Amino acid sequence: MEIKKSEFVISAPLVSKCPTDDKPEYAFIGRSNVGKSSLINMLCNNKKLAKTSSTPGKTLLINHFIINNEWYIVDLPGYGFAKHSKSIKQRLEKMISSYILQREQLVNVFVLIDVRHEQQKIDREFIDWLGESNVPFTIVFTKSDKLGPGKARQNAQDWMNKLKDRWESLPPYFITSSEKKNGRDEVLDYIDGINKN
Ligand code: GTP
Ligand code: MG
Repeated sequence: MEIKKSEFVISAPLVSKCPTDDKPEYAFIGRSNVGKSSLINMLCNNKKLAKTSSTPGKTLLINHFIINNEWYIVDLPGYGFAKHSKSIKQRLEKMISSYILQREQLVNVFVLIDVRHEQQKIDREFIDWLGESNVPFTIVFTKSDKLGPGKARQNAQDWMNKLKDRWESLPPYFITSSEKKNGRDEVLDYIDGINKN
């Protein structure tokens, strides 16, 4: 699939303020600074679409982008940013969980994981919660350019294998670099496959 058109629609503080049509949507979530906004821009070939920053905690609202006038990409705030105050963290957690559980148009959640790091408790808890809640999700490993391709593949494989202690069937996963545009076709084809079903 090619993305011919990508446009910002709305930044919403609540699920009730999100677009009201019934186009399918795909959300991108993960720890603060993992590269959600950068990945969205890479997929859309549009560096200015989602706001990125080297300072974690940039995205604080539910951001909708309309793609080819047919479906939405949703950029969510990161979870687990230590420097946010307790009240901001709680507000963001509530925003993210109510969006994921209530949003009927949500087709798939892409959970982003920095491929350089060991499995972190907060990511694992989030993924277990998605599984328990029967939310369809896919893992996207980010920043693979920071490792060699062999090492990135190995880390991703090890990371996925750790899920086997609890989950029998594992979700699909992709290895990406927004810097090098790696994994773009794979992620877009995956979305296309779902949209066509
Ligand atoms: P929050 O909105 O704060 O939760 O962050 P985010 O997950 O949207 O991350 P963002 O896309 O803003 O990127 C965070 C930092 O990581 C920026 O400095 C990016 O340039 C960098 N970054 C993102 N993706 C990649 C990548 O694939 N490779 C490299 N080398 N750097 C990346
Ligand atoms: Mg962001």
